[in-house]
Amino acid sequence: MNFPVTRMRRLRRTEAMRSLVRETHLTPGALIYPLFICPGEGVRKEISSMPGVFNLSIDEAVKEAEASAALGIGGLLLFGLPAEKDEQATGAWADDGIVQTALRAFKKNRTLDSLVMMADVCLCEYTSHGHCGVVVRDGDHYDIQNDSSVKLLAKTASSLAKAGADIVAPSDMMDGRVAAMREALDAAGLEMTPVLSYASKFASAFYGPFREAADSAPQFGDRRSYQMDGANLREAMREIELDLAEGADMVLMKPAMPYLDVISEARQRFDVPMGAYQVSGEYSMLCAAFAKGWLEPQRAMMESLLGIRRAGADFIVTYFAKDAAKVLG
Ligand code: PBG
Repeated sequence: MNFPVTRMRRLRRTEAMRSLVRETHLTPGALIYPLFICPGEGVRKEISSMPGVFNLSIDEAVKEAEASAALGIGGLLLFGLPAEKDEQATGAWADDGIVQTALRAFKKNRTLDSLVMMADVCLCEYTSHGHCGVVVRDGDHYDIQNDSSVKLLAKTASSLAKAGADIVAPSDMMDGRVAAMREALDAAGLEMTPVLSYASKFASAFYGPFREAADSAPQFGDRRSYQMDGANLREAMREIELDLAEGADMVLMKPAMPYLDVISEARQRFDVPMGAYQVSGEYSMLCAAFAKGWLEPQRAMMESLLGIRRAGADFIVTYFAKDAAKVLG
């Protein structure tokens, strides 16, 4: 039935009417807030390319976590900046590693019980060369070794879970890491710890600001031999399928805004909980436009998150988590 019987504007007339027919909703519980934890005490160092995002010592991170819990945010995603880096990424899997120590502090604090503590599992913040795996160099040539990296990643996952991580989230993109992690967790009696796999992770320029925040820029080369080519949707579906077959409980896709088609396609194909990561560069470019007065901050922020949710993400990892939770009340 066409115009004039059908008038689409009837249901847009008032906010009450619009609210009644709204298809997609955001809730604070579906937002995950990333934290970058560094050594020291009383440290709260702002990332120059990410206004409002900080390197936090554990005492400061506890305060940030308390504020997040009070806002009803669903959980935290933890990254660590170790005091020292080496070729074997010792800081990633050490019992007294920075994130392990933070997790123990968080788990003692009952006001944080409403937060799901997710630990990112990767080596790049802990290796002296900044790659996500073990590197073998031969003159100018270098290779990121898959299988030896997977062993360290599995060790890292069980160490983080033992320290109190509710979920471990591998972001390295090595082959076979999910199966190895599942096995290591089960062997350590941590069979109830879920694996959230960054199954679909593209080699992206939008990770630029994160590498300042996590001090994890590769010292040579790039990540294109392990992260996916941005042109490949079918390959992303294969990555997800393989990680689920290896035992991943949930999957994460990133970046979000330039890859909404990936989220949408995955939503249609797979009946598992899935998240999307609105990464550092997505945050930074919006903040830059806000600072210039070129975009209305609150509306643009909420619209960017709504788009990711509408594409099919159940939850969103975002540096806007606190700001958005405040808007959602
Ligand atoms: C670690 C990791 C990265 C991000 C999450 N985990 C950086 C990278 O792969 O270089 C990026 C997150 C962001 O940009 O906000 N491998």
